Amino acid sequence: MSLDQTQQRALAWCKTDSASTEDAIGLLGYSLANVQLLHKETFDYSHQAVKECPQVMGGPGNLDLLYSLTRGLSAKIVIETGVAYGWSSLAVLLALKENGGGKLMSSNLHYPRFDGDERFVGCAVPESLKSMWTVIGKQDSEAIPEILQTMPAYDLVHYDSAKSYAGRMFAYPLLWNSLRVGGLFISDDIDDNLGFKHFCTMLREKPIIVETPRKGKPSKYVGIIKKRDHRKPRDLMF
Ligand SMILES: C[S@@+](CC[C@H](N)C(=O)[O-])C[C@H]1O[C@@H](n2cnc3c(N)ncnc32)[C@H](O)[C@@H]1O
Repeated sequence: MSLDQTQQRALAWCKTDSASTEDAIGLLGYSLANVQLLHKETFDYSHQAVKECPQVMGGPGNLDLLYSLTRGLSAKIVIETGVAYGWSSLAVLLALKENGGGKLMSSNLHYPRFDGDERFVGCAVPESLKSMWTVIGKQDSEAIPEILQTMPAYDLVHYDSAKSYAGRMFAYPLLWNSLRVGGLFISDDIDDNLGFKHFCTMLREKPIIVETPRKGKPSKYVGIIKKRDHRKPRDLMF
């Protein structure tokens, strides 16, 4: 069986031991904040920008989780994969600003259907936050090594780009190795296939699995691993 066709097993694994967003943040010693309420004016701007955007792109990650953890950790340097409208970027940048400033490095290969027109990538992010943000508009296999060459160490990682098993297995170890001890590794859509579960096995770590409810759709799941030491991911033995 292809490792990309492991969605049912991944979903069953996520469901066995998941937490709400609030409980997951609490388990890490932080408190949940509602970023859209705290930054209503900015989100009004962003919702309008996305409404006016002629390109339809991928939806947001768990914004309260990202914002609360970036704030809780007092993160300064963050790396994310997958920008689309820029909702996750917005949540991180707002938190970085409140942390006293910082840097967000993002990778994003725009959807091929838009023929290289990248004008609307990140349109949810207002100009006032862009000085803390660099987007490398290339696929992860090029963008991540390029980003890590210029900025090698991070407080927080957010993975939300290629959802294939191979895409995850390429990017996860690189991103993990760039994370400082005490930092947080967050991956979206871990119920798509067994990539995240297998990565936890490679690290010998038990993740926190966050159930993220969605309007009119089944919940999706986000995985969090706290980096406790310098051990590198070991090879997976099937
Ligand atoms: C689900 S969207 C990201 C949503 C974003 N994190 C948010 O919260 O608004 C996924 C994005 O990843 C990009 N992407 C897909 N495969 C990629 C790859 N191999 N390398 C880089 N970006 C990729 C897509 O073009 C899309 O913009």
